[in-house]
Amino acid sequence: MKLVSWILTGALVGGSTCEIIYAGVNSAGGEFAQENLPGAFGIDYLFINESSIDYFLNAGVNTIRVPFLLERICPLETGLGSVFNESYFVELQSAVTHITTRGGYAILDAHNYMRYNDPSMQPNSGSIIGNMSDPQAATTESLAAFWTEFSTRFKTNPNVIFGIMNEPHTMPTDLVLKNDQAMIDAIRAAGAQQLILVPGNGFTGAHRWLNTTCSPAQAECTPNADVLTAITDPLSNFAFDMHLYFDNDTSGTHEECTLAAPANLQPVTQWLRQHNYTAFLSEFGAGANPTCFRTLNDTLVFLEENAEFVGWTYWAAGPLWGDYFLSIEPGEGAQSNTTWPMVLEPHIKSYGPMVRCGVSGSRAPTGGVRGLEGCLGVKLPG
Ligand SMILES: *[C@@H]1O[C@H](CO)[C@@H](O)[C@H](O)[C@H]1NC(C)=O
Ligand SMILES: *[C@@H]1O[C@H](CO)[C@@H](O)[C@H](O)[C@H]1NC(C)=O
Ligand SMILES: *[C@@H]1O[C@H](CO)[C@@H](O)[C@H](O)[C@H]1NC(C)=O
Ligand SMILES: *[C@@H]1O[C@H](CO)[C@@H](O)[C@H](O)[C@H]1NC(C)=O
Ligand SMILES: *[C@@H]1O[C@H](CO)[C@@H](O)[C@H](O)[C@H]1NC(C)=O
Ligand SMILES: *[C@@H]1O[C@H](CO)[C@@H](O)[C@H](O)[C@H]1NC(C)=O
Ligand SMILES: *[C@@H]1O[C@H](CO)[C@@H](O)[C@H](O)[C@H]1NC(C)=O
Ligand SMILES: *[C@@H]1O[C@H](CO)[C@@H](O)[C@H](O)[C@H]1NC(C)=O
Repeated sequence: MKLVSWILTGALVGGSTCEIIYAGVNSAGGEFAQENLPGAFGIDYLFINESSIDYFLNAGVNTIRVPFLLERICPLETGLGSVFNESYFVELQSAVTHITTRGGYAILDAHNYMRYNDPSMQPNSGSIIGNMSDPQAATTESLAAFWTEFSTRFKTNPNVIFGIMNEPHTMPTDLVLKNDQAMIDAIRAAGAQQLILVPGNGFTGAHRWLNTTCSPAQAECTPNADVLTAITDPLSNFAFDMHLYFDNDTSGTHEECTLAAPANLQPVTQWLRQHNYTAFLSEFGAGANPTCFRTLNDTLVFLEENAEFVGWTYWAAGPLWGDYFLSIEPGEGAQSNTTWPMVLEPHIKSYGPMVRCGVSGSRAPTGGVRGLEGCLGVKLPG
């Protein structure tokens, strides 16, 4: 019941038809220099710049997606599973604490493309988790063991969202389903009730959710839409995790926006509606030019008008980007004075104030979580 009143409050506060519950940015960096393990904190990798997070939260953002690398949290020596590198864990945990004690939601994003073992080859190659004909591959069971331990450590923090796997690709969609389900089951069995973001094959691309995502000769990349309807969650507290880029190969590596938006979201939105699912656009990004500004704006308007989408996080802020063309890191990012203030921030302001504290949860009609109340001492509104 509490969740329902929180959602209603969130919807009414904006005073509009806006349906966005979560909005914010990625803070990339904890997964950087994956070819250099374990790497040095602050040099090779770094999760957040605390003052940048404060800047975004003060601007009205309520969600920060925080990528981390499985090979750092579970060193290759001990393998994927429940044995952690506690120093890396603490570095991640302190970023999460910084975000959530200020009332933000932190999406914990295992940035591994459904691979483990060979991060130097990511995102393109490496052993696929659960590929039983690959002796190098980590197993589905070890992936579940990781999530049992990890979610147990965060289960008392209602502002955590589990981004269980970034961008699976070039693998059988049935194996994506199997691994996704094993992670969901592990998290729920651990007693963690928070929102889970569930990815699909094909780099979890929203624009091709209904399509085959790689050559069938290579792998059985059947459409996510045909396979992931089998996902079950005893709490019905999940949203499909989706990514979207607008350049000619949807890779997010070119300045030009050549793909029409929001037409690229129509088919998946219809599918979501048909099945009563919700989705979260946890990565999208575009160059800083008039066409891209319009594309981004049209996309955000579309998300706001379609209640199937519960949230979005832009790709990307982060403390180590340097002059990366998509960076919106305050002050230094190439888009910090363009895309952020011109396109993203006005949408955030129009939602404001966003509910910042409360149990993370989607709003599937059957959804709702029980038990976790409040937000680290901050009272829920209403
Ligand atoms: C654990 O992580 C720390 C960085 O926090 C690193 O210095 C150390 O070498 C790592 N240990 C292993 C076994 O990877
Ligand atoms: C699984 O592993 C085998 C053996 O290494 C490999 O031939 C096969 O391509 C892998 N499957 C996929 C989908 O990559
Ligand atoms: C993707 O799938 C949809 C639905 O089956 C179909 O209408 C569309 O033509 C497909 N697009 C491509 C590029 O194959
Ligand atoms: C995409 O555009 C770039 C230029 O930005 C070009 O070099 C590349 O060949 C194009 N790729 C495709 C698949 O059209
Ligand atoms: C979707 O939700 C509506 C309203 O709660 C319900 O009537 C309908 O049966 C649901 N459809 C599916 C496919 O679950
Ligand atoms: C963090 O942001 C502050 C304020 O913009 C800046 O002075 C500082 O150099 C940044 N630190 C890092 C590690 O990027
Ligand atoms: C953005 O504007 C601020 C304030 O004027 C300035 O300090 C910063 O250098 C600018 N950043 C870029 C990347 O242009
Ligand atoms: C975004 O699109 C909406 C609706 O078309 C429009 O009212 C608004 O001015 C646009 N904002 C920007 C920054 O272009």
